[in-house]
Amino acid sequence: MGAKTYFVINYGCQMNESDTEHYAGQLEELGYRPAGDFHDADLIIVNTCCVRESAEKKIAGKIGELKALKTKNPELIICVAGCMAQKDGAKLIKKHPQVDIVLGTAYVNDFKDILLDFLVQRRRKGRVYDDLTIHQSEFEGKMVRQSNFEAWIPIMYGCNNYCTYCIVPYVRGRERSRSVENIVAEIEQAVQEGYKEFTLLGQNVNSYGKEFGIENAFAKLIRRVNDIPGVERVRYMTSHPKDMSEELIKAVAECEHVCENFHVPFQSGSDTILKQMNRGYNLERYHHLIDTIRKYVPHAAITTDIIVGFPGETEEDFQATLKLVQEVEFDAAFTFIYSKRSGTPAAKMENQVPLAVKHERLNELMEVQNLNSLKCNEKLVGQVVEVLAEGPSKNPEVWSGRSRTNKLVLWPLEGKTYQLGEKVYVKVDTAQTWLVKGKAVDHE
Ligand code: 5AD
Ligand code: SF4
Repeated sequence: MGAKTYFVINYGCQMNESDTEHYAGQLEELGYRPAGDFHDADLIIVNTCCVRESAEKKIAGKIGELKALKTKNPELIICVAGCMAQKDGAKLIKKHPQVDIVLGTAYVNDFKDILLDFLVQRRRKGRVYDDLTIHQSEFEGKMVRQSNFEAWIPIMYGCNNYCTYCIVPYVRGRERSRSVENIVAEIEQAVQEGYKEFTLLGQNVNSYGKEFGIENAFAKLIRRVNDIPGVERVRYMTSHPKDMSEELIKAVAECEHVCENFHVPFQSGSDTILKQMNRGYNLERYHHLIDTIRKYVPHAAITTDIIVGFPGETEEDFQATLKLVQEVEFDAAFTFIYSKRSGTPAAKMENQVPLAVKHERLNELMEVQNLNSLKCNEKLVGQVVEVLAEGPSKNPEVWSGRSRTNKLVLWPLEGKTYQLGEKVYVKVDTAQTWLVKGKAVDHE
């Protein structure tokens, strides 16, 4: 009999993608091999997200689909991990008896032991691990990363902010930071394996290390990672405008390998709504932050997250959001329709906005933002950008990669060959809303 196989069905944010790479690493340490398709796997992990209702519905459908596979093959092991697992716990097994293990978000690094225990003791009844207060163990061991030159590096878990719309603090727990030593060791190991680009992950990276009592711990971490030999690019996400410091912006300006890309979610351009959201900053502070970024890093790309249709959002509030989008001219924005998450304060607020109005506002916002994105990309025409080659685009004769400012860049091979992760210089000649195109040039 050949080796047992696994498949992870992943949903949600980069943190989930990173957790998936941890699960895959632990499974391979146990001798599992990747399956090409989940239908053929001996073990399936569904790594879930519950930030919006739409995601949750889709995932519940997928878990339901697995029932037929389990009926066909009772030996199949089904594990539901991630934020929905944390939120619903034992309810998930009640609803979906085909699930064997419900793995909450604090157990990522303990998955291997939990699985071994399950294999030894194999009982009919599903197991639930959903204690959020346990201290997640530091990561050690193997990792199976999706890319072979870009690596996700979680630096902290959880969130203490309690934005009133957001479920994350309830399913990811209080903020806990990894030690600098553990983070640096993981990056050094990945450099040895050929990794070049590192994205430091956390729900609110600007409060990294607060529990260590070190001032500006995140800015210091960025500088430390920048100095690791072999690290070519450093990115990080997500920042919170309330906690982003001038020290961090200076660190980005001064560190050669840290990319000039600031993702600063503002969520709403109305002070009234920001207060209702419990965001901890106002428009003035946000503008000041943007001005500081532009002062120290003039060519930075600035991106954001925006929610429309938060309870009580009036037309006037929405216009304030549009105004901010026009003023800042973001390079890109992730725009969301407010989704009611039960258990969060906003779910109980009156004046929920009708869905039709939310859709109208979203469309209007996207139209304005798309023009901004195009405008920002047009500014790159004639410039040479540094790209790490990611591989062929839909057209095998045209390759794609990301610039330091995280723009998608396309260029024709013109008879040349490139390695994955190779540094390429592209002179931009065409700008579109979502990407720029150009030709590879020699770097002077
Ligand atoms: N509804 C809509 N969008 C949400 N986000 C978080 N919670 C909700 C919600 N309940 C958005 C925020 C956050 C991004 C990751 O998801 O914009 O920055
Ligand atoms: Fe959610 Fe706010 Fe924490 Fe981000 S900062 S994860 S939006 S509570």
